[in-house]
Amino acid sequence: MGQGLLKSGFARVDGVMCCEGVSLEQIARDVGTPVYVYSAATIRDRYELLDRTLAPVPHRVHYTLKANTSRGVLRVLRDLGAGVDVVSGGELHRALRAGFAPHDIIFGGVGKTERELAEALDAGILLINAESEREVTLIDALAGERGVTAPVSLRVNPEVMLDTPHEYIKTGGRGHKFGVPYDQVVHVAERIAALAHVKLLGLDMHIGSQLSRIDPYREGTERLASIFHELGAKGIDTLEYLDIGGGLGVRYDTEQPPDLERFAELVLPAVRDTGLRLIMEPGRFVVGNAAALVTRVLYRKHSGGKDYVVADAGMTELLRPSHYGAYHRILPMRERPDHATVDVVGPVCESGDFLALDRELDDVQPGDELVVCDVGAYGYAMASNYNSRCRPAEVLVDGDRYAVITAREQYEDLTRLEIAQPEWTTVEGRNR
Ligand SMILES: Cc1ncc(COP(=O)(O)O)c(C=O)c1O
Repeated sequence: MGQGLLKSGFARVDGVMCCEGVSLEQIARDVGTPVYVYSAATIRDRYELLDRTLAPVPHRVHYTLKANTSRGVLRVLRDLGAGVDVVSGGELHRALRAGFAPHDIIFGGVGKTERELAEALDAGILLINAESEREVTLIDALAGERGVTAPVSLRVNPEVMLDTPHEYIKTGGRGHKFGVPYDQVVHVAERIAALAHVKLLGLDMHIGSQLSRIDPYREGTERLASIFHELGAKGIDTLEYLDIGGGLGVRYDTEQPPDLERFAELVLPAVRDTGLRLIMEPGRFVVGNAAALVTRVLYRKHSGGKDYVVADAGMTELLRPSHYGAYHRILPMRERPDHATVDVVGPVCESGDFLALDRELDDVQPGDELVVCDVGAYGYAMASNYNSRCRPAEVLVDGDRYAVITAREQYEDLTRLEIAQPEWTTVEGRNR
């Protein structure tokens, strides 16, 4: 199925926007705005669709936490049997708190600290995706101190051409900071295989995000498979996993996301040939279409020939439009007969604070609510306190019921870590 046709769990029912069986108007009334609203059914649908797509080969789906770290969302995925992929000690902590077993966790990232690596080893996770020889040497030393063997997968930069919509989300091209350069992998793998406290269990790649073409996956997977065969010929036969990362695109506007049947046809044969267990690390694909941000219109303005809708959410709640130039559909909670072309902007003191530019929209008025669509991935997770704004609440809908899964931040939370009476340390003997 072309996944552009998938349903999102959000629809207009009797004139008002709903998430599954719950009206977003009611949630806005009960919980206030801005508020992120998630559809549990959509998360389940996407996870199960990917799981079925990969079914022809032994596989594991490790949801990438960074797309959305909310415990309520993680629990939906944990209950489906998903694993997770984390990129920091903080995400490891969150995954364990959400109830994921250590053997369902893999840990990636280009700059893991010694503390983070030690925490991963102490937790006993499934795999550490290492990105350089120096990192593996450190893992070996830490594992030696603990008397354990570290399960390591080597992240390869397969150096494939990509079609992502923004430079910042390309990660598998020549010269990117991620992974071991393709032509060095066999050499690095041989050195790793000689270490006493590390077991090389996998090869890994993550080539980019919001990918719409399947060819880069096919090429990258074939490149990993060829490294696997080369290592086998050199007697390195410890590998169990082939991790081809995340990156599957979703529909925000008119994009044509990858066709999963074709994905299975083109990518899985190379995996099957290796006999390894496939791992995928999807983030956006699982949660991207599963949420909406409900925001209230505060003001309408006209300035310099432009019409503005000033909303109570902006770049602090949803950074993607200003950071990546990302497009999100914006719908009125209730339709109005007239239309206008507007910039939808937030309250932050930055000219770059917007949700949409030059957008044809219903002629909404102060007090109306807007529904910003497809914000489940890299939405709340990238929200900030800039301008001392409190981060919004998060609500999970499941059928005809809803629950607040993250409380709205309060002013007190903003100053919680500040030290009212700092203790000064006087440093003696410094050259002046
Ligand atoms: C290593 C790794 N795996 C998986 C992902 C998930 O990507 P996506 O949300 O596009 O599926 C990312 C995202 O940046 C990543 O860096």
